Amino acid sequence: MIQSTKNPFIDDSVVKGDDYCPRKMVEERILKKLANGHNLALIGDRRVGKTSTAHYVIDSMKDMYKIDIDLYHIIDPSDIAEAIIDACKKVLDKVWDSKKVLDFARRLTPKLDVTEGGFSFGIDASGQEYKKTLHVAFEFLEETVKRTKGKVVILFDEFQAIKTIKNADAILKYMRGKIQKNARVSFMYVGSIKHDMDHIFRDPDSPFFKQAEIIYFEHIEPNIFFDFIFKRFQSKKITLKREVYDMLSKTCYGITGDIQTFCRVAFDSLKEGQIFDFEAFFFILDIIYKNEQKYFKSILDSKGLTKIQKNLLIQLAGIQNQADIKFFGKDFQKAIGVKSPGAITNALNALEKKEYIYKSDEQYYFSNPFFKEWVLDYRFIIQATAGTLTAGSSITGTRLDFGYRQRMIKHSK
Ligand SMILES: Nc1ncnc2c1ncn2[C@@H]1O[C@H](COP(=O)(O)OP(=O)(O)O)[C@@H](O)[C@H]1O
Ligand SMILES: [Mg+2]
Repeated sequence: MIQSTKNPFIDDSVVKGDDYCPRKMVEERILKKLANGHNLALIGDRRVGKTSTAHYVIDSMKDMYKIDIDLYHIIDPSDIAEAIIDACKKVLDKVWDSKKVLDFARRLTPKLDVTEGGFSFGIDASGQEYKKTLHVAFEFLEETVKRTKGKVVILFDEFQAIKTIKNADAILKYMRGKIQKNARVSFMYVGSIKHDMDHIFRDPDSPFFKQAEIIYFEHIEPNIFFDFIFKRFQSKKITLKREVYDMLSKTCYGITGDIQTFCRVAFDSLKEGQIFDFEAFFFILDIIYKNEQKYFKSILDSKGLTKIQKNLLIQLAGIQNQADIKFFGKDFQKAIGVKSPGAITNALNALEKKEYIYKSDEQYYFSNPFFKEWVLDYRFIIQATAGTLTAGSSITGTRLDFGYRQRMIKHSK
């Protein structure tokens, strides 16, 4: 049968309009800060919805200009400068004669290449001292603010990416010096790697210390998101059971984008009129495994990770509550195959750096929650779960071997 109903689940871009599920509480907090002209740092886990909500709130404000600077792909300081210039150009083209924008750009040094796609520095600029290109960028920013009336939000998205660049601290210091207080202008810094964002805004030694009021971006309200998702499935007469949603949400640690991914696959794969129960849940999970199996396997089979790191990854999947276990204790070390807590710390850091896991509120999470489920279903993990660890037993087997799915399905009937 040819699929005719459009899939209403979006998981690969910023969501807008009807595709955006309202988050009143956090929206109001952001709105209030921006309306009062405060600077703001929005910090939260990856794919939780920070960028979508930031834009949603800014776009809802009347007479508000948005300079949208995305630092996601930056490698060199000149990339930061280009991202700023790019964002400025988009606004300038709206408020100024485009010929004048070009004239203005041509007057600046180091010289910018002017192409259809926008402005960029020549290759030689990437090796130049960061101050030179950033200087041009801030000239642009100043000009843009000058040309606009009313309020302006300067939005730096993925701001923590600056921390990955050489001379990061000097660059931050330089930028901080360039940012002038202006009643019309609010700066909004959005970022996802909590450590780095916290460090930038909360460390007394950081140039951005206390430069913005921090809002920690929480998980989406489950009841509201359930209703939102439930309705979307109804467009194909699929009925999502609440307990399945709760399970999905738990599986995804409540991360909005990952829940949407699962739902997108479910919408395509389930039949019209079907009940979305636990059986359907595992059916979808298997489809996701099938799509990603090659990649999952490659992580655990490749030489990219040491044996210790792989072990640790597998053990982490099975631990329900990391706060409850002696994370660096002897039993755990034995399970991983190391002899000191320091070796575990090193392995955790390596896994985090490779972005297989991330840390949030003192817990480690898989960046891909479906990878975690796959590990649980297929790898030998039972011996490593917190309960059995403390009990000192060592049963070997996978979650599937132990009839996990049958239990879940029976339990829900
Ligand atoms: N308010 C929302 N309503 C519905 N889905 C959302 C919402 N916010 C985020 N999402 C989902 O999460 C994904 C990632 O959103 P994004 O705003 O890019 O998150 P972040 O900036 O925190 O990484 C989106 O593609 C979408 O699937
Ligand atoms: Mg984002």
